[in-house]
Amino acid sequence: MTVTIRPWWKDSVVYQIYPASYLDTNGDGVGDIPGITSSLDYIQSIGVDVIWVCPMYDSPQIDMGYDISDYKAVYPPYGTIQDMQKLIAETHRRGMRIILDLVVNHTSHQHQWFQESRSSKDNPKRDWYIWKPAKYDAQGHRKPPNNWRSNFGGSTWTWDELTQEYYLHLFCPEQPDLNWDNLETRKAIYEDAMIYWLDMGVDGFRVDTVNMYSKDPSFPDAPITDPNAEEQDAGLVYCNGPKMKEILSEMNAILSRYDAFTVGECPNTPDISTVVDYVGASAKRLNMVFQFEVVDLGQGKVFKYKSKPFNFQLPELKEAIDMTQSFLTHTDGWTTSFVENHDQARSVSRFGDDSPRWRERSAKMLALLFGSLSGTLFIYQGQEIGMINMPKEWSIDEYKDVDSINYYRMVDRCSKNDAMELAEAQASLQHYARDHARTPMQWSTGFNGGFTADDTPPWMRVNTSTEYINVQDQLKRKDSPLAFWRRVLSMRKQYNESFVHGNFELLDASNPNVFSFVKRRGNRVAVVVCNCSGSENKLPYFNGLDNSKIVLGNVDKPAVTTLQPWEGRAYVLSY
Ligand code: GLC
Repeated sequence: MTVTIRPWWKDSVVYQIYPASYLDTNGDGVGDIPGITSSLDYIQSIGVDVIWVCPMYDSPQIDMGYDISDYKAVYPPYGTIQDMQKLIAETHRRGMRIILDLVVNHTSHQHQWFQESRSSKDNPKRDWYIWKPAKYDAQGHRKPPNNWRSNFGGSTWTWDELTQEYYLHLFCPEQPDLNWDNLETRKAIYEDAMIYWLDMGVDGFRVDTVNMYSKDPSFPDAPITDPNAEEQDAGLVYCNGPKMKEILSEMNAILSRYDAFTVGECPNTPDISTVVDYVGASAKRLNMVFQFEVVDLGQGKVFKYKSKPFNFQLPELKEAIDMTQSFLTHTDGWTTSFVENHDQARSVSRFGDDSPRWRERSAKMLALLFGSLSGTLFIYQGQEIGMINMPKEWSIDEYKDVDSINYYRMVDRCSKNDAMELAEAQASLQHYARDHARTPMQWSTGFNGGFTADDTPPWMRVNTSTEYINVQDQLKRKDSPLAFWRRVLSMRKQYNESFVHGNFELLDASNPNVFSFVKRRGNRVAVVVCNCSGSENKLPYFNGLDNSKIVLGNVDKPAVTTLQPWEGRAYVLSY
């Protein structure tokens, strides 16, 4: 008998936690580490194996902790190092694992390293960040070194009066990019951001913006895609620079000493061979990455929020999933399945129907769809109860994310307060903004949904849907999305050869309403059929689809030839 040894992370299900919004135990309106620790039994009961805690490091919170001022300290409102030690120990005691966010493309402008770097041109840490002299146009006006647009709008370059140079920041001006060409900087990053936490016992990292560290040394202009603007979308220019492979191999040499798990965030990489260079087993760099083809669907091409709700067709979703799934069939790499995270609006609102009639049905269908895809599965807090976007009638003031605020301000400025354009911008944010993932976790009914005391103002308003979407209610109901998620995860474990490791074969690719695919490994065959629409549809004909083979579905009495609105079924034909 041959025994296949598989790394533990392949069959794992990861649950992502956003500390600010999980559970507040000390009554300051902000979630905290003890809140996560006290929820571990609940988290484990969903059937997950690993928790991923979003940045809990010290930070001025310009970008919700993705702007770190001290890698070795905890943001005080979240807790202390001792709280983290306890969380790690309690997670391990339950047989689960814990990963942290590794945010090392940039630091906060308040990090000691940047403070030193900006203090003078001859400071020993000057070269730890990316500084460049100005350019001047024919009229003698000062210009940034190139035309790159930051991820949050505006130029990627900020002028620093003191030393009369620009510094680079691919995100906010308060998030200066580290200079990875400097070997001393790299070493300090490894020591503070990785080794310190690995020694404390964490099991790995979700690696933020993993393909941005190395930049083309000529810092070329990006092609003009928005002729009316000074700054241009430059994602394809600054991602995947020349030293990426070298850097990731170096990081892996450290991580592998700890058998640590890595999942990299890999935007702007349509070229599959580049992804394989990162995640191929023989490449030994990262275990897997998140690609963006699915979650970018419907968003604007030039400005992601310049779009309309539901701006995609089902075949595009199929194609996007097919592309990420194909890694297993055509390469030695591994992949991920996810549809939500802290940077995405809620999946029921984007890919399902969040109206009272179909909310739960479509939440379960999405659970079945993404829970039966191959690769490591990631679910985001609140997804397990089918949380939905903030209400349409909420004012723009409820949006707290720097990305949303900057976009709305830009539209306001450019449209000179045009009511129609502002309404369009708000409608788009109501559909796509990152804020929807960041409203507090809905534990129960009541004003603050059990997230914090009812008389405490939470840092972000609790979605009013907590009246009917909350953990307390769903724990009691056998037909809740939460109960269904548990069944999806146990199906995934029981038939893991098909659902976690099987090759994905798309069926009926052009069907505009029904998404069907086979998961095959050797002679183990499963088929998943999902009606991704609010109307009844014909069950596509495939050989062997017999109702007695359904192992999980989201309607009580599945019909023989039709699918009800938002119905999803998984068949195991042979195992
Ligand atoms: C990643 C994070 C996002 C953050 C950005 C800058 O994309 O997921 O939340 O804003 O990096 O660090």
